Amino acid sequence: MIVAIDGPAASGKGTIAKRVAALYGLHHLDTGLLYRAVAKAVLDAGYPPDDVAQATAAAIALDLTKFDENALKTPAITEASSVIAAIPQVREALLDYQRAFAIRPPGAVLDGRDVGTVIAPGADVKLFVAATPEVRAKRRVLELKARGEAADEREVLADLLRRDERDSRRTAAPLKAAPDAHLLDTTHLGIDAAFRAAVDIIEAVRTGRKRR
Ligand code: C5P
Repeated sequence: MIVAIDGPAASGKGTIAKRVAALYGLHHLDTGLLYRAVAKAVLDAGYPPDDVAQATAAAIALDLTKFDENALKTPAITEASSVIAAIPQVREALLDYQRAFAIRPPGAVLDGRDVGTVIAPGADVKLFVAATPEVRAKRRVLELKARGEAADEREVLADLLRRDERDSRRTAAPLKAAPDAHLLDTTHLGIDAAFRAAVDIIEAVRTGRKRR
């Protein structure tokens, strides 16, 4: 089974994806980490994130087997990753790996922005996880504080909105729900309830399939 989970930042998609993968015994890939790793490589080498040649070279050279997740979650990398993710050559360089990951037996859960639309358009189940920007900003602030970082809610909200806008407006694989994605609005849901709602959708799709 392949499960595609897309949505904007701090919608809850990452946590849902991890838990869904654990429940069904599937591989899990947080595709955002790939763009973050490219961003880190470019920034570490001293180049701006919109340097197409550097970003493309970094994407091609990326070691996709190991990521230091913590080091990739800094605000500078977060911001740079969405600039880098708009470069078509970078997306192209990361495409085959993601597609191969998705079809590795026994199946996988991938979360990101374009999983249901570009990476795995034939996924068995597609979820588009959303929540209001205000609620997402609150979640992100709690996350940053838990990591011991200072976080101002208004600034975090502005960053999120800027990133949403950039991710949605770019021409290369923009953030959008696939036509056959199931919308899961987590605005009023805690993480347990959001996870249960995701499993309900997956089970409904699976049972529907079996009946046919
Ligand atoms: O999901 P996360 O917030 O870690 O992703 C960081 C950035 O990577 C996003 O803002 C987006 O620009 C980019 N991204 C993407 N396509 C994906 C996953 C992430 O463009 N499938």
